Amino acid sequence: MFSLNSLIRSATGKAAGCRKSFRSLSNTRPELQEASSVSVGNMVRGPERLDSRWTKGVPDYMKDIYTWAYVNPTNVRLLDHQFVVDAILFFNARVLERCVLDNLAVGSHVIQVGHTHGHLCPDAAKKVGPTGRFSVVDITPIQVEHAKVKLQEFPWTTVRAGDASDFSSVLPEGETPYDTTYAFMLLHEIPDKMKYEVVDNMLKSVKKGGTVVWVEYHGPPYWYNPTRYFMPFIFRWLEPFALRMWESEIESFANAELKKQFTWTKEVYGGNLYQVVIAKHNGA
Ligand SMILES: C[S@@+](CC[C@H](N)C(=O)[O-])C[C@H]1O[C@@H](n2cnc3c(N)ncnc32)[C@H](O)[C@@H]1O
Repeated sequence: MFSLNSLIRSATGKAAGCRKSFRSLSNTRPELQEASSVSVGNMVRGPERLDSRWTKGVPDYMKDIYTWAYVNPTNVRLLDHQFVVDAILFFNARVLERCVLDNLAVGSHVIQVGHTHGHLCPDAAKKVGPTGRFSVVDITPIQVEHAKVKLQEFPWTTVRAGDASDFSSVLPEGETPYDTTYAFMLLHEIPDKMKYEVVDNMLKSVKKGGTVVWVEYHGPPYWYNPTRYFMPFIFRWLEPFALRMWESEIESFANAELKKQFTWTKEVYGGNLYQVVIAKHNGA
């Protein structure tokens, strides 16, 4: 009989040090080209070959596993397009992004934890609008630069460099708590210990009555969904912290006392491969 566990165990490949090559894609935004002035020949290089300004302050898990996606400026330039996000999320990106946008009120105070390729950031900034305030925090220098460029036409936005496992990066001292804090496909990319810290920091960052939204992998996908059978291999190859999202509810990462202060709901998408979890603070 088919055993998902044996499939997962048999999945092979090392994520650390992986090298990906990409076909050269055109980029129509000169500002981003300027921010990514590394030759295409560098796109498969590891962190040790990059200029130190791109790796400064970047934790080992990002350099070891995600240089190809979020640290190497050439790759970031190539990947930061909506069609890439659509493809990576098997054409579920738009519906998942819509779930985030539906939770953002015009004129509200919002933070996105972790920059995203594609147009979620600017769409969210537009939805919040000039009567609100919108921030992005990210841990890699190139993602911070890309977010700044993508949000430059919206003066009500702020982009910060910071680690979401550090509370002051999510809600800096003196900043008023948010109406909505969200993360789009972040938790599966961070080490398990950090999942607890980031979930707690996000919950602590909202005001009474505020909302926290996570869009994440979920699983295992239904038996008739082909991703059930090949995603464990992809995870083992490229995303070693992701399978935890198939085994654990997001609320299980929350501190017990904090968790009780929120009402939790979950909806699944893409044949159970994705989840949208909303934690609404019970206070008025
Ligand atoms: C939010 S996820 C989004 C992934 C998704 N595939 C996309 O781009 O649409 C990726 C981002 O999270 C950032 N990130 C990873 N660990 C982080 C941390 N501890 N704090 C803040 N940002 C982090 C990465 O630098 C990257 O820009």
